[in-house]
Amino acid sequence: MHDAKNLLGVIGANVAWLRGNDAEGKLGESLSDIEHACTRLADLLHQAIDAAPVSGIRAAVTLADLVRDAARPFGRVADREKVDLEIEEASGRVVVDPARVGRVVENLLENALRHAGEGGTVRVKVAAEADDMTLSIEDTGVGFHPGEAPAPGHHGLGLAFCRNVVHEHAGTLTLDRSDALHGARVKVSLPRHRPRISERPRLSLVPGP
Ligand SMILES: Nc1ncnc2c1ncn2[C@@H]1O[C@H](COP(=O)(O)OP(=O)(O)O)[C@@H](O)[C@H]1O
Ligand SMILES: [Mg+2]
Repeated sequence: MHDAKNLLGVIGANVAWLRGNDAEGKLGESLSDIEHACTRLADLLHQAIDAAPVSGIRAAVTLADLVRDAARPFGRVADREKVDLEIEEASGRVVVDPARVGRVVENLLENALRHAGEGGTVRVKVAAEADDMTLSIEDTGVGFHPGEAPAPGHHGLGLAFCRNVVHEHAGTLTLDRSDALHGARVKVSLPRHRPRISERPRLSLVPGP
């Protein structure tokens, strides 16, 4: 499913390039058809990912890579909405279902961009802690209503989905207020992947000078 999403991304990027280079406008209708099909396919894929029961799929991935991939399409959205989208990365891996966790990032970004307001900022931060990798998404919007914050089950489908997926991965999702941007802050923590000792590269003894 993750691969299918990446392939759709490749098709979409190529269609956009062709449109930009279609000086005589000969390809217009065909490109529109392909774009329409891509959008429909993306919707269907998203529905399938969101509706899938807890999956057994697990892969060790660098959280920052996963976040950057999921955030890529939102660069254009941010430009259009005149929102400054900042991404701060740190290295560190997690063992996850990449498609489902990617959908979590998309949902949270969509919310943050929608609430940030024109001229606002959305700050995405991946950080490494001792036992966890964390992802926080902050914005310059109005923030969560006080009653909305911790209670599960009181959110729309998006946040409920995010919370479920994070829990499937033995992680936590908290909603609070951003100190820096004064809007909402969503923080996701996922257990950090630590390779077993036998998987670590062996130290080799190199003769000194
Ligand atoms: N970044 C945010 N800033 C302020 N409120 C938010 C933010 N994200 C979510 N919310 C609040 O939480 C509710 C539930 O969010 P969500 O489950 O994603 O549903 P939806 O996006 O469909 O409204 C939203 O309707 C909104 O009231
Ligand atoms: Mg939402």
